[in-house]
Amino acid sequence: MEREKFSSKLGFMLAAIGSAVGLGNIWRFSYVAGENGGGAFLVLYLFCVFIIGVPLLLAEVSIGRKAQSDVIGSFSRLSPGTPWFMTGFFGVLSAFLILSFYGVVAGWCIYYLWNYISGGFFVEPAGGYAAEFGGFISHAWHPILWHALFIALTIVIVYSGVKKGIELANKIFMPTLALLLVGLAIYSLSLDGAWAGIEFLFTPDWSVLGDPSVFLAALGQAFFSLSLGMGAMLTYGSYLSKENKLPSATFGIGVMDTFFAIISGIVIFPAVFAFGIDPGSGPELVFITLPGIFGQMPFGEIIGFIFFFALTLAALSSSVSILEVPVAFFMRIFNWGRKKTSIILGFIMFVLGMAASLGMGIWAGVTPIGSNNIMDSMDFIASNILLPLGGLSMALFVGWYFNKSTAFEATDMQDNSIRDIWYGIVKYIGPIMILFIFLNAIGVIGW
Ligand code: PFF
Repeated sequence: MEREKFSSKLGFMLAAIGSAVGLGNIWRFSYVAGENGGGAFLVLYLFCVFIIGVPLLLAEVSIGRKAQSDVIGSFSRLSPGTPWFMTGFFGVLSAFLILSFYGVVAGWCIYYLWNYISGGFFVEPAGGYAAEFGGFISHAWHPILWHALFIALTIVIVYSGVKKGIELANKIFMPTLALLLVGLAIYSLSLDGAWAGIEFLFTPDWSVLGDPSVFLAALGQAFFSLSLGMGAMLTYGSYLSKENKLPSATFGIGVMDTFFAIISGIVIFPAVFAFGIDPGSGPELVFITLPGIFGQMPFGEIIGFIFFFALTLAALSSSVSILEVPVAFFMRIFNWGRKKTSIILGFIMFVLGMAASLGMGIWAGVTPIGSNNIMDSMDFIASNILLPLGGLSMALFVGWYFNKSTAFEATDMQDNSIRDIWYGIVKYIGPIMILFIFLNAIGVIGW
C-alpha cells in the first residue's frame, strides 16, 4: 500500500504545530514557568528551544522523511542490523506513557468546558474551585469518563487518516486556537494590575539559576513543548516527500510553538497578578486559579468557555500526534488497518491513563520515583528523561551515524549559510548540553 502523505508543506506544518502546541504550552508552561521564577526560566526555555530544540527538530523530521517509515522502522531501514532501532522503541514507550496522563488532564479540560456550557461554573461552586477540582479529580470514575471521551475523539481523528483526519483537523483547529488565545491575551492585558504579570513573565530574576533543577525543567519543557525526542515529529516527517524543504518548516514550527507559549503566558499571568494570586501554585494554576479569576471578571463565563475550548483543541491536536507514533508502527508490523490499530492502541492508552487518574484519588499514596503522584512520575520520566534521551539519540544518529554530506542532504541544509553551525549543534553542542543538564540535575556534577 502506498504510504499516506500530507497534501502540502503547509499541511505538514499545521499538523506539526498542532502537535507542538498543546497542554504543554498552556497548562504545563504556565505552571512550570510560575514555579521556576518566571522571566529567568523564560530565557533558559527560549535558549533550549532555539539553540537545542529547533536544530534537533530538523534532525528528527529528516530521519522520518528520509526513511519513509515509522519511528522504529526508520532506524532499522537507515541502519539495518544496528541497535539504533532502540531509539524508536523508547519513542513508542514514551508515547504510551505520555498519552495516558495527557488524556487524563485533557479530560479535565473537557469537563471544565462542559461546565462552562451547562452553567455549572457560571457561579462559583459551593466550597470554591479548589474543592470542586480536588473532588472531581479524586473521584473514582468521573474523570475517567471524560478521559475516555477525549481518547475517543483522538482515535476518531487518527483513524480518519493522515490527510482526512490529522491534517484536516489541524487546518481547522490551529487558526481557531490562535484567534481565541490572542483575543484572550488582549482581554487579560486590559485588566487593572495586569502589568505585574507581564513583568513577572519578562523580567528575569537570575537568582533562580542557582538551582540546577531549573535547567532540567527548561530543557524538559522545551522537549515536551516541541514534541521532540519521541518520534511524533519523525512520524509526521515520514508523510512528507523530498520536495518539501525542511529548514524553514522546522524553524516555523519552533517560532509558532514559542508564540503560543508566550501568548498563553500573557493570557494567564496578568490575570493571576491582577487578582493577587501566587503564580507558583503548580499544576492547579489553570484549573483552580483561573476559574476563580474568570468568576470575578466581567463576561467570565464566556471567557472560561473560550479558554477551555482553546485548551481542549490544543490538547487534541497534540494527542493525535502521540497516538500516531505507535499506530504507524503497529500498522506496519502487524499489517493491521488504520481503524483497528487506532482503536486498539487508543484503548490501551485509556486503560493506562486510568492509573494516572486513580493516582489523584484512591491511589494517592502510590508515589513511584518519589514524586507527588502517579501522574507526576509519568510526566517526569517521560518529559525529563525519555524525551531528552530520545532527542540525544536522534542527534547522535544524524551527527555521527550519518556522514556530513548525508546529514546535509537529509535535512536540505546543503546550501544553507548556517549549515555548519547547525551541524556543530547536532553533533556536539546539543548532545553535550543535554548530558550536562542531566548530570547537573542528578548531582553528578555541580556547578
Ligand atoms: N507538545 C505537546 C504539548 O506541548 O502539549 C505534547 C507532546 C506531543 C509531547 C507529542 C510529546 C509528543 F511527542
